[in-house]
Formats: sequence, C-alpha cells, structure tokens
Amino acid sequence: MKKDKFGSKLGVVAAAAGSAVGLGNIWKFPYITGQNGGAAFILVYLGCILLIGIPVMLSEFALGRKNSSNAVESFRSISPKTKWHFTGYIAVATSFIILSFYAIIAGWVFSYILRSMTGKLKHIPVDGFGNFFNGLVSNSWEPMIATLIVLVLTASVVIAGVKSGIEKFSKIVMPILVGLILLLIVRSVTLDGAWAGIEFLFKPDFSKLTISGVLEALGHSFYTLSLGMGIIITYGAYIDKKENLATLSYQVAIADTVIALMAGLVIFPAVFAYGLKPGSGPSLLFITIPAVFKEMPLGSFFEILFFILIAIAAITSTVSLLETSVSFVVDQFNLKRKKATIIITIALFIVAIPSILSFGPLSDVTIIGERSIFDSLDFLTSNILLPIGGILVCLFVAWVWGTSNAVDEITSEGKYKFSISKLYSFSVKYLAPLGILIIFLYGLGIFNIIGNFFK
Ligand code: PHE
Repeated sequence: MKKDKFGSKLGVVAAAAGSAVGLGNIWKFPYITGQNGGAAFILVYLGCILLIGIPVMLSEFALGRKNSSNAVESFRSISPKTKWHFTGYIAVATSFIILSFYAIIAGWVFSYILRSMTGKLKHIPVDGFGNFFNGLVSNSWEPMIATLIVLVLTASVVIAGVKSGIEKFSKIVMPILVGLILLLIVRSVTLDGAWAGIEFLFKPDFSKLTISGVLEALGHSFYTLSLGMGIIITYGAYIDKKENLATLSYQVAIADTVIALMAGLVIFPAVFAYGLKPGSGPSLLFITIPAVFKEMPLGSFFEILFFILIAIAAITSTVSLLETSVSFVVDQFNLKRKKATIIITIALFIVAIPSILSFGPLSDVTIIGERSIFDSLDFLTSNILLPIGGILVCLFVAWVWGTSNAVDEITSEGKYKFSISKLYSFSVKYLAPLGILIIFLYGLGIFNIIGNFFK
C-alpha cells in the first residue's frame, strides 16, 4: 500500500509548526522570558534552538524519512538486530501519556471559549477568576466532557489522513492563528501603560540570568519543538525525498520562535497595562488573562479571539501527538487508520479520567513524590521520558546510524548543500546528548541534592 504523505512543502511546515506551536509558546515561553532577564534569556534560548534544537529536529526528520517508517520501525529498519527500537517504544509511550493530560488543559480552554461566547465570564468579578477556575477544574464532569470533545476533534483530523486531514487542517488553521495573534498584539500594545510589559519581555537584564535560567532555556527549546517523543520522526516519514530537510527545520524553528515572541507581545503589555502580576503556568491563562480582558475596551470580543487562538495552538499539537501513536499501531497491528484511531482515542480517554479526577475527588492521591496524578504524569514525561528519548535519539544517530548517513538523508543524497554539517555532527555526537543529560539531572533535582551535600 502506498503510504499517505504530505502533499506540499508548505503543508509539512504548517503541520510541524502546528505541532511545535502549543501551550508552551503561549503561556510558558513569555513567562520564563520575563522571569529570566528578558532579551538576555531570549539570546540564550536562540542559542539552544540553534545548537541543540535544530540538530535534534533534523535527526528526527531524517530518521523518519529514511525508510518512511513510524517511530519504532525507524530504529528497527536501520538497526534490525539490536534493541534500539525500544527508543521508539519510549517515544510512543511519551506522546500517548502527554496527550492524555494535554487534552485536559485544551478542554479547559474550550470551557472558557463557551463561557466567553455566552457572556458568562462577564459576570465574574475581577478577583473571582481564581475561584472560578478552581471550581471548573474540580467539578470533573465538565472537564471530562471537554476532554472528550478535544479528543474526538483531534481524532477526526487524524482519521482523515495525513494529506487530507493533518496537512489540510494545519494549512487552514495556522494562518488563522497568525492572524488572531497579530490582531491581539495590536490591541495589547496600544493600551495605556503597555510599555512596561514590552520592557518586562525584551529589556535585557543579564543580572537576572542564572544557571537555572539557562537550563530552563535548554529544556524549553527541546519541548517547544516537540522533540524526543517520536512526533518529528513520524512526520519525517511523510516528507517527500525531494524536500530539503534543513530548510524545513529552519522554517519550523523560526515560526515557532516568532510565534512565541508574538504571544509575549499579546500577554505582557495587557497584563502590565492593568497593573496585574503575570502569574505562571495555568494561572496566567485561566486567571490573570480573563481579569485583563474584563477591564479592556471590547474585552469580551478579544477574549473569545484569544481563547480560540489557544485552542488552535493546542489542537494542532494534540493532532501530532495522536498521529505518533496511530502510525505506530497501524503498521504494527496492521489495522486500518480509522480503527486504530478510534481504539487509541478511547484508551486515551480512559487514561485521562484519573488525571481529571485528580483536580477533584482524587486530589489527595499522590504518586511520584508529593505530586497529584496529573502532576506525576507531567513530571514522568517532561522530566524523565522526554530527556531519555532525546538522548537515545542522539546516541543512535551519532553512533549507530552514523552522522554521515544522517547527513546523506538530510541532503537528499548530496542534492542539497548543508553548510552546517560539521556543527550538526558535533552537536548530535556531543553537545545535544550532554546538554539533555544536564537538563535531565537538573529536572530530577540531582544538582540540589549534590549542592546540599557539600553545604
Ligand atoms: N511543542 C508544544 C508546545 O510548545 C508542546 C508539545 C509537546 C506538543 C509535545 C506536542 C507534543 O506547547
């Protein structure tokens, strides 16, 4: 059977950028930038994208495209007699687990869209959004339905196939995302007092840049490009041999970074104009931002646009997460795409239920350390499985497949010039695995333990 592929270069960029642009760009990047010295942090972050993010992305694209195979088969087809394909199993498991809780957050976004469309958010006092949010997530029924809606929506894109589902969808919604973000920037930066927010985001303050800020930049550059979980390998398999993988990767990385900066220009000027403090994580999106829109002229209108923007960013990411499992199951068990997608979606929903309940009835249940079920899954994937997957991908490409073979694939057997091939090989062999190893140890808190030991 002929494999379904992306039909155009633009389609690949839209789909991969759709995966890369997600909640991380909109709530996390602006916040960590402001916290860690603005432009000073952005410089470090750009360095990480260039030196580690792009080389790993190229490796994943090349791995997937080499034999047009899924995240597990890519390893097996290159090194059949070894156990390296376990890296693929880890990647598929990581993307499956991430999707099971990412869909919950996307579901909250849908709840907010519904409430802002029906004017319900308008009746909440400025300081009442904290309670409102806690009430929403702990009530379990609504988040359950919302998560199901997100999963069904995601599944319907994936069922339609690579070209007529994922590619078509991304090509329609990504321009809408850019349009919405531009509109919101104009609104935000023209508010009185917006300048303080622009300064918070961009003014370089090297004194605020700490080692942990640098590690945060490194970790985020990896997460934001959707690396280490088989997604880019899976999408690589759908890219035509005549496409230039290097250019594609640069374009995806640039689009991802520009959209993250634009998100900062939406959020901070508005938050500062109204004298609020940018909280971190979910509270920024679900508590601070609604309070800002409440005060803003035409706020309800812009609020709907803002949450639709986040929903688009989230759904293009959930699509890529689901596709990773689907492409594996389709090949492995010889199932039809539709059947595989439905089975996986049902499994995802079941796995999501304990996480949903961990904001309500199961809030006292802890798994890893003092973490709730939801937080444990986040910790397990972001801090453990993702870096392990990333390191193994680098080691495999560098020492098993060989960087010269990877470069052949990247350049379509020498058809394209690849001016950074030396830097690429150096990064995949040493820089990237070492960098990821450091974030891994840092994420596990090992540096703190060592630090305390020497105190
Ligand atoms: N890259 C996405 C973001 O920045 C996050 C993501 C991670 C998406 C894993 C898919 C898979 O939000």
